[in-house]
Amino acid sequence: MKDRFDLSGKIVVITGGAGFLGQKHAEAVAEFGGIPVILDLNPIQIDTVIENIRRQYPTQAAGFVADITQEAQVEKICQEILAQFGRIDALINNAANNPKIDDTNQLQNVSRLENFSLEQWNVDLAVGLTGSFLCSKYFGTSMAAAGGGSIVNIASDLGVIAPNQNLYKREGVPEQSQNVKPVSYSVVKTGLIGLTRYLATYWPEKGVRCNAICPGGVSNGQGELFLSRISSLIPMARMARPDELKGAIVFLISAASSYMNGAVIMVDGGRSVW
Ligand SMILES: NC(=O)c1ccc[n+]([C@@H]2O[C@H](COP(=O)([O-])OP(=O)(O)OC[C@H]3O[C@@H](n4cnc5c(N)ncnc54)[C@H](O)[C@@H]3O)[C@@H](O)[C@H]2O)c1
Repeated sequence: MKDRFDLSGKIVVITGGAGFLGQKHAEAVAEFGGIPVILDLNPIQIDTVIENIRRQYPTQAAGFVADITQEAQVEKICQEILAQFGRIDALINNAANNPKIDDTNQLQNVSRLENFSLEQWNVDLAVGLTGSFLCSKYFGTSMAAAGGGSIVNIASDLGVIAPNQNLYKREGVPEQSQNVKPVSYSVVKTGLIGLTRYLATYWPEKGVRCNAICPGGVSNGQGELFLSRISSLIPMARMARPDELKGAIVFLISAASSYMNGAVIMVDGGRSVW
């Protein structure tokens, strides 16, 4: 059974792979013998992540500077990856605009629905949804042509429950100035679950599976008031640790999940069932 989790030699494309959680996904892939291929906007951050991974694991991790909202770039990078590695085994659609909102956030109220700009809406949907569509189109097509693969969409608990805006409340601040999780985040994350179901039924005979992970909030230096508020909404009474998505990632990419397709897996300490 252990062998079924093995990712030896598997080429795993990770969008937003230089970000906070993307690098954890890349570490998980490398630890199980796979080759993480990171796509991200920031070349310096990509280099740092690749260097860290190569230092820890004997893997040929690779990185490409890419804006996944641009079809020509995604198509070109897909060809470059195929030229370099010969195939693609998995895609993790991880990149999204993920505004860090907590009760200490001093941002103006631009996140509120009344003020949320069409421009920001379009940008957020472009990264989270259009980018995932484009990557699925090119990398998924390549997997289907080569005999199969696994697509993992990183949704969120906010893909299945609404944000509780009370988490972000600041005392003494008028309602119109209170921060909120933006509407685009809920729509992107719910949309990714739709994309998951669509893709799960699109190439099953070609061996391409697609599943979604819905992580709850991950600790990353949030303020104490926010931590105590969010913990009270979670049966396990804490946020996720950054390493706690790795098990689900390896499981869904590997043969250990060979009969899983179209699943929406909550990794949220139980928040969504309470
Ligand atoms: N951090 C959490 O608590 C949490 C919880 C649930 C779900 N998630 C989801 O996990 C994923 C990763 O979140 P994170 O906290 O690591 O965010 P992050 O902001 O640290 O990482 C996102 C990465 O995506 C990259 N990116 C943005 N636009 C891009 C584009 N056009 N092309 C290529 N790359 C682009 C960014 O440069 C960044 O490195 C997101 O989908 C997020 O919604 C995060």
